[in-house]
Amino acid sequence: MKYLQDLDWRYAAKRMNGQAVPVAKLENIKEAIRLAPSSLGLQPYSIIVVEDAALREALSPAIFHQPQVKEGSALIIFAAWKDITEEQVDAYLANIAATRNIPVEGLGDFRKMILGAVSGKTPEQIFQWNARQAYIALGYATAAAAFEQVDSTPMEGFSPEAVNRILSLEEKGLSAVAVLALGFRDAEKDNMARAPKVRRPSKALFTHYENELATA
Ligand SMILES: Cc1cc2nc3c(=O)[nH]c(=O)nc-3n(C[C@H](O)[C@H](O)[C@H](O)COP(=O)(O)O)c2cc1C
Repeated sequence: MKYLQDLDWRYAAKRMNGQAVPVAKLENIKEAIRLAPSSLGLQPYSIIVVEDAALREALSPAIFHQPQVKEGSALIIFAAWKDITEEQVDAYLANIAATRNIPVEGLGDFRKMILGAVSGKTPEQIFQWNARQAYIALGYATAAAAFEQVDSTPMEGFSPEAVNRILSLEEKGLSAVAVLALGFRDAEKDNMARAPKVRRPSKALFTHYENELATA
């Protein structure tokens, strides 16, 4: 399976070689992010793409000087919504109505359901819920990069406060939850490029419950 080979090929690159990710590949990775599923379909996040070298340099201390920030050619910042407002829900419903060519009035029950799910949660619970959705998009981006033979590094090693400040995210009701650096590996400088992938064996990771019951 080509896609399994690609997923095995990918690793979290620690050093990149400065080569720019071609526009078409970056566009495909963005499209994979756009296609990621999310709870209720809300996509409660914004995706910020930073290719500008000066802005990546400014972000570098906020991302703890991880070399991929400057050695890659693009950063994708997954910023979760801090809240889910009625306006955001209505914009989503308007999109459904327009895309599927149905009257928005017919979505009243769905609207109530979404707002009901939101009203039962604290602001922190809503943010964490949104952040979980953003991580699904991060997973899609990481896989899509591998399919494009583009190297990537998913990153939590950064200061959300500092990234938020530099990109003015709080003012927009957002907070950075994950960063993906994109570029091409520097296999000479990066020891991890040659390191075998460490994963738990299938037997340790997966439990097939019918089998468990049969042997109980
Ligand atoms: C959410 C998340 C955050 C991560 N944060 C960092 C990071 O800040 N810096 C880094 O070099 N690698 C980071 N990694 C990479 C992991 O260490 C790496 O994916 C893991 O060790 C498995 O190795 P592999 O992806 O190279 O196969 C992160 C991975 C994930 C999924």
